[in-house]
Amino acid sequence: MILIGFMGSGKTTVARILGERLDKKIIEMDEEIVESAGKSIPEIFSEEGESGFRKYEFEVLKDFSHSDAIISTGGGVVTFEDSFEIIKSTEKKVIFLNADFDLLYSRISGDIKRPLASQPTDEVKDLYNKRIAMYKDCSDIEIDTSSGLEETILKIIDFME
Ligand code: S3P
Repeated sequence: MILIGFMGSGKTTVARILGERLDKKIIEMDEEIVESAGKSIPEIFSEEGESGFRKYEFEVLKDFSHSDAIISTGGGVVTFEDSFEIIKSTEKKVIFLNADFDLLYSRISGDIKRPLASQPTDEVKDLYNKRIAMYKDCSDIEIDTSSGLEETILKIIDFME
């Protein structure tokens, strides 16, 4: 299973809980990227730019795309064509976690660990609007997470059965 969705959609938390309930390993892509690059996400963005970050992200996705783990992606993974293609063509179930922009933004605004969330609100909103079609295009199901974590988990487990 691959979890996709904008920053703040709960991918990491949902992956952790699903991992416990379904007894599966989880891969947190951002953590893997930090490990393979040997530096933090803000450092990668400032030293190598977003394009440098996307290349690390693609390598990590490629390495884990055949594993049985639950993969929690970063919100921008769909914007890099090669990564998008992996997600679009995988046999794994791809779950798109979504919510209204305002709810997502309230969870991420001012987070210094997320370089793209610290731009002006309008620019973050533009990113969200541009990405929505990509998330929809490569996912098997879209889950509205605004009804809460437990409801989200149950909807995913139900879908996977
Ligand atoms: C990004 C989302 C982040 C992280 C990086 C870029 C994005 O992951 O990969 O800061 O482009 O939306 P989360 O979605 O886990 O915050």
